[in-house]
Amino acid sequence: MESQSGNSGNHLESTLRENRIFTPSEEFCAQAHVSSLAEYRERYARSIADPEAFWAEAAGELDWFAPWSRVLDWQLPQAKWFVDGKLNLCHNCVDRHALGERADKTALLWVGEPTGEERRISYRELHGEVQKAASALRSLGIGKGDRVAIYMGMTPELAIAVLACARIGAIHSVIFGGFAASAIADRVNDAQCVAVLTQDGSWRRGTEIPLKQTVDQALEQAPSVRHVVVLRRTGTPVAMQAGRDHWWHELVAGADAVCASEPMDAEDPLYILYTSGTTGKPKGLVHTTGGYGVQTYLTTKFVFDLREEDVYWCTADIGWVTGHSYVVYGPLANGATVLMYEGAPNFPDFSRFWQIIEQHKVSVFYTAPTAIRAFIKWGDEHVEKHDLSSLRLLGTVGEPINPEAWIWYRDKIGGGRCPIVDTWWQTETGGIMVAPLPGAVPTKPGSATLPFFGVEPDVVDRSGKPVPAGSGGLLVVRRPWPSMARTVYGDPERYRKTYWSDVPGCYFTGDGARRDEDGYLWLMGRVDDVINVSGHRLGTMEVESALVAHPKVAEAAVVGRPDDLKGQAIVAFVTLETAARAAGDLEALKQELKRWVAQEIGALARPEEIRFTDVLPKTRSGKIMRRLLRELATTGKIAGDTTTLEDFSALARLREDEES
Ligand code: PRX
Repeated sequence: MESQSGNSGNHLESTLRENRIFTPSEEFCAQAHVSSLAEYRERYARSIADPEAFWAEAAGELDWFAPWSRVLDWQLPQAKWFVDGKLNLCHNCVDRHALGERADKTALLWVGEPTGEERRISYRELHGEVQKAASALRSLGIGKGDRVAIYMGMTPELAIAVLACARIGAIHSVIFGGFAASAIADRVNDAQCVAVLTQDGSWRRGTEIPLKQTVDQALEQAPSVRHVVVLRRTGTPVAMQAGRDHWWHELVAGADAVCASEPMDAEDPLYILYTSGTTGKPKGLVHTTGGYGVQTYLTTKFVFDLREEDVYWCTADIGWVTGHSYVVYGPLANGATVLMYEGAPNFPDFSRFWQIIEQHKVSVFYTAPTAIRAFIKWGDEHVEKHDLSSLRLLGTVGEPINPEAWIWYRDKIGGGRCPIVDTWWQTETGGIMVAPLPGAVPTKPGSATLPFFGVEPDVVDRSGKPVPAGSGGLLVVRRPWPSMARTVYGDPERYRKTYWSDVPGCYFTGDGARRDEDGYLWLMGRVDDVINVSGHRLGTMEVESALVAHPKVAEAAVVGRPDDLKGQAIVAFVTLETAARAAGDLEALKQELKRWVAQEIGALARPEEIRFTDVLPKTRSGKIMRRLLRELATTGKIAGDTTTLEDFSALARLREDEES
């Protein structure tokens, strides 16, 4: 809580000055699914008066093999949505379009990183590809309930792999291609995956990331894996282990062209996705089928205000939840044309994204504040040489967006005419929870605005009491929603404790927020020890464990400090083993430790700064006082309350280290 008030102080100052309001144009409203604030408010009120009726109506827009008997069974923290209903999300994302009027519509419009490489896959073709991939998995003995890890680059086959798993009821666990071997092994072991789907390599900023090689390393410590399926992408030679490793193209060539969709119970798990928490290893959040399918479908339709002719591009990697919900499931369930780009935004030059938008006439573009800040830094000239007039709607997600970046996004990318949807949600929420409906809700730069239908957020104090308008508090959600994660894989108690015990009766998001007099929500960042680097959550604990695993490190405490580009940057306070401190070149050791963390977890987790210290400040109960370290890392001094400090000299020494 202390950090909360510290946070809110900073954020309130900047946001209170923000009083610009942007209303959507009449032209936009006229064609929108929801076209006025009054209509939004009326429909929202109805959805909250009877959420079950609201979500049941939405669910009716998907294909079901068998109807549900009850919309919701809620026994905190256990929600069951669409009880007894049977459906398959691959069927909903592919078959119903492929076998209907969208058969020849482009489903995936793929742009490779090497210039000139493109593939267009129609819904009919996707139907064929997905069935072959699903048959191939079945031929390996993989079926309903088996866990399958997917460690791939942004190729069409990644989307196909995800959908193929959904088709046969295998639970996918996509692991972001930037994670290192030990992070893969942890995730594979936690879920006891039976197979890994990967590629030889993947292109990133012109260089090859050796995915298969990393999988091989990871699997030395992950004995549950019986099969590895390898997509040939870069053509680089890789070692293939007989009996275990199979080439994707060979397997698929021999696979049955027809593969029926497994009828899944609405509550059958669809996937596991790992995210960082404050303590312990990453949590495998489990999402189920029915509710997740309904909410990702409906939020895509309304928040991105999808139209049949849209070319929709969400720049997120499928390795993150945004890619699951808004590259794969949400847009494909809507029958959209989804653009997928394989590589980096600055390859071969800084204008790559704008060149892609111009060439493919992208109309809806969804990215992250950290990317927007990078675009600003790279300079307007890269944007200005391209015609972006095809764009009609912009979105952002992952962290609070600063009003300046918001305005730049609106002016430079949106040409002043595109509404911006700032969407707040989390891996745990599965789908968008707070965002403006673009034809209805006037936007304020920096605010995610108002809740989605059927979602009831609140800003409260620790006891669950709402705080007055204008004050900061904890963001909670007062009632269950369909796409909420159902549990932490293998650890239901951790799920209950993390999300459903802090604030009585409510889901606790871990975020601070403020609600203004218009009911608009302003997110103020995390109130726990989770660091948000470039829109991705990293647990302090994971980085600390990696540091402590280094032979020269005795203890480590990791905090985030504000960073212009990444949102937050990692600062690690490290105490060394005595011998290490006495010996060697400390500057070189700093570099070594940064490399070490990148190797252990992935480049995303590389500390921006390492500070050596004799001792770490701890409370009487032995807890590291990250609040103080955060303050020190951010402002260079400590002004906060230190009465629970065990060893005051620790503080003095940290200050000295700072000055020296
Ligand atoms: O702190 C919030 C921030 O990102 C966290 C969720 O991270 P993750 O599970 O990795 O999912 C990211 C993509 C959904 C949240 O707890 N966050 C996400 N979107 C926003 C945001 N903060 C402010 N505004 C947003 N639009």
